[in-house]
Amino acid sequence: MSEVSASKDHEDAPRSQADLVVLSGVNKHFGALHVLQDIDLTIGRGEVVVVIGPSGSGKSTLCRTINRLETIDEGTITIDGKPLPAEGRELARLRSDVGMVFQSFNLFAHKTVLENVMLGQIKVRRTEKKAAETKARALLERVGVAAQAEKYPAQLSGGQQQRVAIARALAMGPKVMLFDEPTSALDPEMINEVLEVMQQLAREGMTMVVVTHEMGFARSAADRVVFMADGRIIEQATPEEFFSNPRSDRAKDFLSKILHH
Ligand SMILES: Nc1ncnc2c1ncn2[C@@H]1O[C@H](COP(=O)(O)OP(=O)(O)O)[C@@H](O)[C@H]1O
Ligand SMILES: [Mg+2]
Repeated sequence: MSEVSASKDHEDAPRSQADLVVLSGVNKHFGALHVLQDIDLTIGRGEVVVVIGPSGSGKSTLCRTINRLETIDEGTITIDGKPLPAEGRELARLRSDVGMVFQSFNLFAHKTVLENVMLGQIKVRRTEKKAAETKARALLERVGVAAQAEKYPAQLSGGQQQRVAIARALAMGPKVMLFDEPTSALDPEMINEVLEVMQQLAREGMTMVVVTHEMGFARSAADRVVFMADGRIIEQATPEEFFSNPRSDRAKDFLSKILHH
C-alpha cells in the first residue's frame, strides 16, 4: 500500500481487510489505443478517491473496468479480496456490490421513481417487495426526493434525477460507489444538491471513487486525489498536497487550466 493510501483508520488492519478495491498491473487497449497503462491503484475501505485529469485520459474507462462494463487485457482487479468474476450470476452480484452513477442519469423512463429504486433490489438481491419499497422510500427520503416517489423520471429536474440514481445504486447495498462525472450534465444551480448528497455519503464512511471536475468537492471530501493523463496515473496525493504542490508538469498544466478559467 502506498503512503498516501494508508488511511488513518486502517493502519493496523491487515492489508487484505483494509483494501477494498485493488487494481494491479492493469492494461487495456481499444484497438491501437493503449487506454489504461500499468494501472496500480488501491482503494481502502471507507476511502474517498477523486480521479481527475484531462478529457480522454481514461477516467471513465477506469471506472468501467472496476464493475466490468469493460474487460481488461492484462493485470488483476479484486474487490474485497475476490477477483472480478467473468460472467453469470457472480458478475450480477458484483455489479450490485459496485454502485455506479453516470453523467447521464440512466433511470428507467417508463418506471416511477419508486419503482426505479425497488427494481434491482427485487431482481438481483431477491428482496421481498414490501421490504424493497420500505428501503426505497427511506433512501428517497435520504437524498431529498421522497415527495417525487410516484412521478416518472422526466417529470423531475436533472438534479433530482441524479439523486434518484444515487438512491437506486445505494438500494443494492454496495460496498463501493463509483461516480463518473455525476454533475457534468447538470445545470449549475443543481450541482450542489447532488454534491451535498455525495458529501453526506462520504461522511457516513462509504467507499467512493469519484471522477469529477468539481475541485471544491475534491478539496473537501477526498482522502486522496489521483491525477490521470494519457492512460496513466501520473501522481496521487492528499488534496492539500496535490492542489498546493502538484509535482508533475502535466498536473500543473491541468490545474492552471481548470482553476483559472
Ligand atoms: N468503447 C471505446 N472504443 C474505442 N475507444 C474508446 C472507447 N471508449 C473510450 N475510448 C477512447 O479511450 C480514451 C479514453 O476515454 P475515456 O475513458 O472516456 O476518458 P475520460 O473519461 O478520461 O475522458 C479516449 O481516447 C476515448 O476516445
Ligand atoms: Mg469520462
